[in-house]
Amino acid sequence: MKIEEVKKVAVIGTGLMGSQIAEILSRLGAYQVNVVDVNDELVRRGLQAIEERLERFFVTKGKLTANEKKVIVGRIKGFTSIQAAVSDVNFVIEAAVENLAVKKEIFKELDDKAPPDAVLASNTSYQNITEMASVTRRPGKVVGMHFFNPVAVMKLVEVVKGAHTSDETVKLTCELARKLGKEPVVCRDTSYGFLANRAYRAMMDEAVQMVWERIASPEEIDKALELGYGLPVGPLKLGDMVGSWGIRASSEQDSIRELGPEKGRLHPLVRAMVRAGYTGGPGKKGIYDFWKEVLSK
Ligand code: NAI
Repeated sequence: MKIEEVKKVAVIGTGLMGSQIAEILSRLGAYQVNVVDVNDELVRRGLQAIEERLERFFVTKGKLTANEKKVIVGRIKGFTSIQAAVSDVNFVIEAAVENLAVKKEIFKELDDKAPPDAVLASNTSYQNITEMASVTRRPGKVVGMHFFNPVAVMKLVEVVKGAHTSDETVKLTCELARKLGKEPVVCRDTSYGFLANRAYRAMMDEAVQMVWERIASPEEIDKALELGYGLPVGPLKLGDMVGSWGIRASSEQDSIRELGPEKGRLHPLVRAMVRAGYTGGPGKKGIYDFWKEVLSK
């Protein structure tokens, strides 16, 4: 399939990432976008999040008129059934929960219900593309298309090749990423965390270890990395913001399977934090609070 033939895209999952991916697809003006979630309320919330972002970042800043916003929102249709949402699309981007079993169920259904020439992409951060492709009859058309949060701002898209992903699928996915104003990088799915998350994870682990050794406070460690390496946000602050500690705890079995027990097991500090409720994430305490309230006492 050529990029000009892509007219309709489905996004599976209207959570944090799915709603942002649907938004940038629709904003481009070139695509009809179908979004799917498990019930009406979640679909409604996903569409509402899109409207709110468009209002806040575009209409109030004079970058879009109220009518242009309406047109963008109007190009996005909400569904609660995968079958109805994908029956006539050319490209699917799955952005449902980060759970391989759930993703395999979804890919099986996508393969059954989407047109045979449609590409099936996953926005997964860590899960294996070849495994998702294994439940389909089109492994050549299954690919990773990994966006970064916030989607409208972050330039990177990792295009991830499974063992059977065709060159044509990789090329098309890179072209779609570029159309959306992103810079694609291509890699294999044999790397847990692909490129950016794999390297970042190692740095985050080292930062956590330094806190564990009481070498310095989280603030000092982040400051060293921000000023020493020009990072916009230190890894510990970022972990607190996005909830990396809770995410790490819930994916421990995956990481042990992929990396082995030594590298994959949860750091004892992260385990202690998560047990005490310091998971990080919006409105939740994280490593900065754990240092102040528990470790440094
Ligand atoms: P989220 O939890 O905000 O959204 C996931 C959505 O998928 C939920 O609304 C859920 O109801 C829906 N869902 C679950 N099962 C479904 C099904 N069978 N059919 C349709 N919808 C279903 O999660 P988030 O953060 O948006 O992550 C989604 C994917 O994107 C994950 O694979 C994650 O690893 C990846 N990702 C997340 C990033 C982040 O910063 N949160 C960054 C890059 C990738």
